Amino acid sequence: MIKISNLSVKFEEQRVLENISFSVAEGERLSLVGTGGSGKTTLFKALLGLVHPCSGQVWMDECQVSKLSAGERRQFMRKVGVAFQQGGLFDDMTVYDNLSFAMEHLTEVPRAQHEGIIEDLLQQVKLGGSKRLYPHELSGGMKRRVGIARALCNRPQIALFDEPTAGLDPVTSTIILNMIVALTGEVRHGCAVVATSNTEIAIRFAERIVVLHEGRVVADGLWKELLLHGSDWVRYFLGARFIGLDESYMKELGLPEAFIENPQQGQVSA
Ligand SMILES: Nc1ncnc2c1ncn2[C@@H]1O[C@H](COP(=O)(O)OP(=O)(O)O)[C@@H](O)[C@H]1O
Ligand SMILES: [Mg+2]
Repeated sequence: MIKISNLSVKFEEQRVLENISFSVAEGERLSLVGTGGSGKTTLFKALLGLVHPCSGQVWMDECQVSKLSAGERRQFMRKVGVAFQQGGLFDDMTVYDNLSFAMEHLTEVPRAQHEGIIEDLLQQVKLGGSKRLYPHELSGGMKRRVGIARALCNRPQIALFDEPTAGLDPVTSTIILNMIVALTGEVRHGCAVVATSNTEIAIRFAERIVVLHEGRVVADGLWKELLLHGSDWVRYFLGARFIGLDESYMKELGLPEAFIENPQQGQVSA
């Protein structure tokens, strides 16, 4: 569904993405993980054609993104759902109107059917009672949930979530993560990518992770393998968050026995 080939992006003279290549298959979930500034948001923007690569190519569901005409681009955006970290809701529109605006622009669903779909989506993100509220009346977690509902209103084949839980407390983060997992779990004919600097969110979202570091892919594989056998930096980065956690919680997260027995191992060698 997504194919990125030797992609590089520069801002001014700074190389922000360097020779990125990886693919995401139909039916696959992937976490894109890296520290702040590693290039995650820029990579999403490149996938959407919002920043222009200085070299390399991006295909999304067989469309080469940089070659789309304006008309083709409008069609293309109907297949894609994206929730950026800065929610991007219109401040002067209610929750309902924000979603209705998106439905109008991103789908061909007749207007008469919008209401039913929006009601249904709002139920799924547990905002059924909030549709008449304006963004400034919502908590951070509620805004994120509106963003998720909006990203999914066109039943996208490719769903991208940028830092869906950043700045939220752990309980709200878990609720949001579970929603994304449940909502994207239904999409058999698509794929979903979460970009996050939170390694716990990353491993809970997907078995496969791509690790970005200073604009490069430094690992791509199953996180359980990478946590034990990745490079020094990858083991350090992935392991750091889990040190000192309760053993039963580490088991609940599915961390490998070898890690639970000696969580410091990757840290010492890094
Ligand atoms: N529009 C821009 N102009 C110049 N530099 C940018 C721009 N957007 C991002 N950057 C730089 O690109 C790097 C990667 O940023 P970003 O993709 O936002 O990382 P992440 O999402 O992983 O935190 C950072 O060094 C950031 O300062
Ligand atoms: Mg970012």
